[in-house]
This record gives sequence, C-alpha cells and structure tokens, in this order.
Amino acid sequence: MNIAVLASGGGSNLRAILNAIQKGTIPGNITLVVSNNSTAGALEIARAHNIPAHHCSQLRYPSEEAFADALARLFDQHGVTLIALAGYMKKIPSVVIQRYRNRILNVHPALLPAYGGKGMYGIRVHQAVIASGEKVSGATVHIVDEEYDRGPIVMQKRIDVHPDDTPESLAKRVLAVEHEIYPMAIKAFVEGRVKIEGRKATVQS
Ligand code: GRF
Repeated sequence: MNIAVLASGGGSNLRAILNAIQKGTIPGNITLVVSNNSTAGALEIARAHNIPAHHCSQLRYPSEEAFADALARLFDQHGVTLIALAGYMKKIPSVVIQRYRNRILNVHPALLPAYGGKGMYGIRVHQAVIASGEKVSGATVHIVDEEYDRGPIVMQKRIDVHPDDTPESLAKRVLAVEHEIYPMAIKAFVEGRVKIEGRKATVQS
C-alpha cells in the first residue's frame, strides 16, 4: 500500500511510521509527504529519506477546488492508496474525503469523541483535559470524514493523568502514545484488518 503522510509540524509521527516501515512492521511504504508549511520538519525528514516532499498550501490557490485538484493530482502521481494525517492542521477538502472514503486516517491527542472538534488541537487539548480534572487521557486514531474528529475510531490507548501534570508534561506522554498506536493502526489498515461498518470500525487481530 502506498501511503501519503500529511503534516504541518515537526513530523514525530511521520518518523514513528517511517521507523515501523524500516523495521518491516508495516508492509507498505510512504510515497509522498505533503505539508501546508514550507518549513515543516516533516518535509526535512521526507527529504532525508528520499521521499517526495511537497509544500502544498490552500493559500497558494484561488479556490478550495483548485487546491483539492492539486492535492488529488499529487496523490495520483504517487499512486497513493492510504492517506495518514500526522499533525496536519488544515481541513481536507470534502472532494478528497469523498474520493478517499474510509482511506484517510488521523491521530488525535485525546480520547475522542471527548476533547475533539474544531479548535481542539495541540496544547489546547491537554489544557482542557487538565482543567476538567480528568483522571485519564490518551490518543485516538480515527477515520477522517467530513466532520472534524468524528470519523469511526480505529484505535485508542489510555494513560493516567498525573496529579502534578502540566499540559506540557501530559502532551509529551500522549505524543509517545501516538507514536505507539499510529503505526499499529496503519499496519492493521495495510493488512486489511480494519473493517468499517457505518460509523464503527473494528480491527481484527
Ligand atoms: C502533536 O500535537 C500531536 O498530538 C498531533 O500533531 C502534533 C504534532 O505532531 N497529532 P508531529 O510531531 O508533527 O507528528
């Protein structure tokens, strides 16, 4: 399976997926990395691994349709069959979601459906979790559909929130969980073990 990774930031999830591929854990490969941010570390990581790395931002297109076309063309050129959002902070055009129905994954740093949705990203998630006095948090891998962070959940892992946790210390531990479950979820997907029925996804062991 040819995987495209979309990222806006440092690319630690991209690195985790790459490591799993290099270890032979995931029987697929990353054929494309795209970022809306021309200075994203994720693009540097791609280049260092000789993976086509493209800066593609909606700001450089006259319309969402033109941007969607550019994205779709990139995916076609690289034979992309699975799209993994990894710290990607922009909306995926609905025409791309339709075209890759049930083949776009995202990792979110909380236990969806809690602490998800518009505006819930990065450190804000952990600030909200701590402010609410939650005793557990974690990470979620889900299918991307038209509703932000509301697609079928593929995999989740819980961790305790420590009494002395700050949003930063919690973010660090949750990010480590992302690095653990995202490659596992992608592996299941590539091996055809993720079944999606309506709004539910199940992973066969
Ligand atoms: C992190 O906040 C992570 O929780 C979310 O995207 C951000 C950066 O990820 N998924 P990465 O280090 O660029 O993979």
